[in-house]
Amino acid sequence: VKFQTFFKLSLLEIIKFVLHSVSGVCGLAPLNTKTSKIVGGEDATPGAWPWQVSLTRSGTHFCGGSLINSQWVLTAAHCLPSLVVYIGRDTQQSTNPNEVSRTVTQIINHPDYNSDTSENDMSLLRLSSAVDFTNYIRPVCLAASGSTFAGGTDVWITGWGDINSGVSLPFPERLQEVSVPIVSNTQCSADYQANSISITDNMLCAGLREGGKDSCQGDSGGPLVYKNSTKWVLGGVVSFGIGCALPNFPGVYARVSKYESWIKSQITSNQPGFVCVPNSDGCSNNGTGSGAPHLTAVSFPLLMSLPLFIFSAFALE
Ligand SMILES: *[C@@H]1O[C@H](CO)[C@@H](O)[C@H](O)[C@H]1NC(C)=O
Ligand SMILES: *[C@@H]1O[C@H](CO)[C@@H](O)[C@H](O)[C@H]1NC(C)=O
Repeated sequence: VKFQTFFKLSLLEIIKFVLHSVSGVCGLAPLNTKTSKIVGGEDATPGAWPWQVSLTRSGTHFCGGSLINSQWVLTAAHCLPSLVVYIGRDTQQSTNPNEVSRTVTQIINHPDYNSDTSENDMSLLRLSSAVDFTNYIRPVCLAASGSTFAGGTDVWITGWGDINSGVSLPFPERLQEVSVPIVSNTQCSADYQANSISITDNMLCAGLREGGKDSCQGDSGGPLVYKNSTKWVLGGVVSFGIGCALPNFPGVYARVSKYESWIKSQITSNQPGFVCVPNSDGCSNNGTGSGAPHLTAVSFPLLMSLPLFIFSAFALE
């Protein structure tokens, strides 16, 4: 009897683990009906962005982040120590029936983060325990190495940040969403040159020429996502800007596709799903490649272990 209990538990754990490992679970938002610091945005419907997390300190929201598997959050390195992470949250000041919270047990800042230039503004947070996925809590896929975001591509940004420079989100502080176009690095570099700010290949820019839509204070660390037809893919992490939503100063994001190998070197089990943007062929010739070959490497041994378990159950009976 004891053995059978153990066996059933293990089988359940293995199935759960396989489900969590498969990158097939990333980037799905069943409650999001869209086709494709928030200024110019609107209320998101609960569950539309199930990877969005809120980083809090002393009960106060100060940064966003994205759930990338059941136990890790990707955020910005300038979002320094976060104590409690809320996942599945809708509003900052009202009830959140679908949320769970976790403390942070490990913070891995990118080793080359430079607070003066904002280069490599990226950090990984390990949650105190894994979360169960629901329609309100799900991981996002990550842009694979070699992904490209052409100028003009429409993407979405979300967060609980200010709705204009110095103007905080009004009660009940519901999660905001807004769609903005990608700005090419050539254009973005030219925009920021006068202010002696250099836009590197590790950064990604987005915003309207005329301004009016942007991330702002409090959105930092949060997601910039692109929909590849079936899955939502994290292309950027909110990093910095000059003011918010000013004309010709697009928001600047850490470019997620540049960090595939770093992320994979830090998260050694249950790796997040990587998807090539704009299409699945684009990254195949790159050394690091997309997540697809890795996925089989993770789940194949696990699937193989199932018959072994079943066999040993019979053998012992
Ligand atoms: C991946 O391929 C793209 C397009 O060929 C290239 O621009 C990029 O530098 C490559 N990245 C790596 C890491 O090899
Ligand atoms: C979107 O990503 C999935 C998962 O990697 C892939 O199977 C599919 O082909 C991608 N779609 C496009 C249009 O690239």
